[in-house]
Amino acid sequence: MPKKVLVTEPIVDSVINKLKAHFSVDVGQRGDYNSEEALIRDIPQYHAILPMLSNPITSEVLKAGERLQIVANHAVGYNNIDVDAAHKENIYVANTPDVLTDSCAEFTIGLILAVSRRLFEAQRYLLDGKFDGWEPLGFLGKELQRSTLGIVGMGRIGQAVAQRAKAFGMDIIYHNRSRLAPETENTFDASYRADIERLAEEADILTLHCPLTDETKHLVDKEVLSLLGEKAILVNTSRGPVVDEKALAEALHDGTIGGAALDVFEEEPNVHPRLLAAPNCLLTPHIASASQETREAIGMLAAEAIIGILEGQDPNKIPNL
Ligand code: DGY
Repeated sequence: MPKKVLVTEPIVDSVINKLKAHFSVDVGQRGDYNSEEALIRDIPQYHAILPMLSNPITSEVLKAGERLQIVANHAVGYNNIDVDAAHKENIYVANTPDVLTDSCAEFTIGLILAVSRRLFEAQRYLLDGKFDGWEPLGFLGKELQRSTLGIVGMGRIGQAVAQRAKAFGMDIIYHNRSRLAPETENTFDASYRADIERLAEEADILTLHCPLTDETKHLVDKEVLSLLGEKAILVNTSRGPVVDEKALAEALHDGTIGGAALDVFEEEPNVHPRLLAAPNCLLTPHIASASQETREAIGMLAAEAIIGILEGQDPNKIPNL
């Protein structure tokens, strides 16, 4: 009997076909496995699961997975998985580092440009029929050249953003759990700030690339937002709860922050209603990694981890969180 794999919702065909060449594969429908109950009900029959960020792989789900050998998340972030509980149950946990770095960094630069130059406000103005010809004071934005980019989280994605920002002539400052080696800092002419308050005070644009942990929850709070100030822009492509959304919505409405671009939200798929109505706030539906190439690469990496573990390859060669 072939081993059984659950892919919790449709992903690119080539990945499903690769898995099907080795195992019996079930593919759920979108949303089928967004609850713990549904996962607990179905997980006992599977040897591997390829879940999405929206699927809660809790300790109860892992305990119910009596045959489960690996959870291969379709994401680099893994805050939907109780990794400690998986280790207790001797279940591998794989994520998909590296393959989405470029896609997320490009997307972040896109958001920065869009908010700095007020593209979405300007498009709405035009679509509303308000364009009455070129005007000298219409939609004045801010150039990236010579402005200061504050990066929170200088891992792979943070560094890829720094590399691109440098090409736009931006000055780069960063905050990270630990300071980078001097050679790495030199690559981006980046200077370290030991606390986020100092970073926020100096940055024209603050962009978030840290994982969600107990330490980073609401890292960007009312105080950090007030230090950023009325001309500054906040960009979040990391995880929603890193920002206190309510405080951000208030700051945008009060004009105490210049603008924001958010790809992630505290209670996805819900978006705080005050954010929906906030000025100069660009909102996108968690799509930083959504390029054709990257979504295929994410799926392939997860599939390879599953094949490796279920077919008994040397586990040391398979990334395990
Ligand atoms: C991730 O991989 O963590 C992204 O947020 C979704 O692709």
